[in-house]
Amino acid sequence: MKALVLSGGMGLRLRPFSHSMPKQLIPVANKPVLVHVVEGLRTLGITEVGVVVGDRAEMIEGVLGDGSDLDVKITYIPQDAPHGLAHCVAIARDFLGDDDFVMYLGDQMLPDGITELARDFRTERPDAQVVVHQVADPRAFGVAEVAADGRVVRLVEKPESPVSDLAVVGVYFFTAAIHQAVAAISAGHRGELEITDAIQWLVSSGADVRARVYRGFWKDTGRVDDVLECNRELLDRLKPSVRGDVDDASELIGAVVVEEGARIVRSRVVGPAVVGAGALVEDSDVGPHTAIGRDCVLSGTDVGYTIVQDGATVRNVASVRASVIGRDASVTSAPAGGGHRLVVGDHSRIEVAA
Ligand code: G1P
Repeated sequence: MKALVLSGGMGLRLRPFSHSMPKQLIPVANKPVLVHVVEGLRTLGITEVGVVVGDRAEMIEGVLGDGSDLDVKITYIPQDAPHGLAHCVAIARDFLGDDDFVMYLGDQMLPDGITELARDFRTERPDAQVVVHQVADPRAFGVAEVAADGRVVRLVEKPESPVSDLAVVGVYFFTAAIHQAVAAISAGHRGELEITDAIQWLVSSGADVRARVYRGFWKDTGRVDDVLECNRELLDRLKPSVRGDVDDASELIGAVVVEEGARIVRSRVVGPAVVGAGALVEDSDVGPHTAIGRDCVLSGTDVGYTIVQDGATVRNVASVRASVIGRDASVTSAPAGGGHRLVVGDHSRIEVAA
């Protein structure tokens, strides 16, 4: 089985970060989502991975390279514009050949793994197998109507009145039967070739399309709040390790990772938390559920339930919560009486305590 990972798309809901990086590279527990995705595929025994990339191809290639660091072989498949998920299957045809494959949207996090679902697909080999997850409000997703025997009766993309509470997860198992379906459909109302329509085409033509329920933790990391939730979930699974320096005046509580070259000085870090390589944390309180990237500087500050990306500085600011701070960004206190001074990029969001 091969894998097709989709890493194009605009990531509008993840602005401002998606202005300067593909949304699939946002770090969760100090590792880009896309790396978590490829690692998960490798645990299924998959080594041939096609990655569909858009205009941010270079940045994606910079992180994944040829895949050898992750023990896979990566083939990049350029897409000229986001024409839809089914379009990605069409342009990957040469890479896929007639092989079975798992298509994985590059912003999906399923940290509990899909080993059993992949095994079901490999042994039973239906024409297609979708993954569904029970959610309270599925209107933002594809929604599946599933018969008692697990066969998909109907799929509807982002319905106003969902027929079930089963959201379609962005992980799909396909045989070569999908190629005929992709060729048969036309663009939907978003102007894109929808994979949901291609799967529905299979269902309507009598193909064997099944749904398997994933019961673990699932997030589509398309929005900042979901990225923070995901970060919390992954940090909750963290194994503590200290490879950097922690001075005698500091205290680490619970599961804390201090990466190489990081320094913790006169500070208290409450796990789960990770402090990235080369970062400096001094006179600060960090955690819980906080990921500090490489080479960050935190000084005289108090940060919790937050992601601070590589190279950022937070200095003399009290109580930073539920925040995501971009790469090389700087958050500091203003001179006394100076009021707030904001140099904020496009589509940023600032909430200042009144
Ligand atoms: C896509 C799929 C949708 C699926 C979702 C999962 O939506 O079209 O069926 O439920 O991913 O995250 P999109 O994120 O492109 O809006």
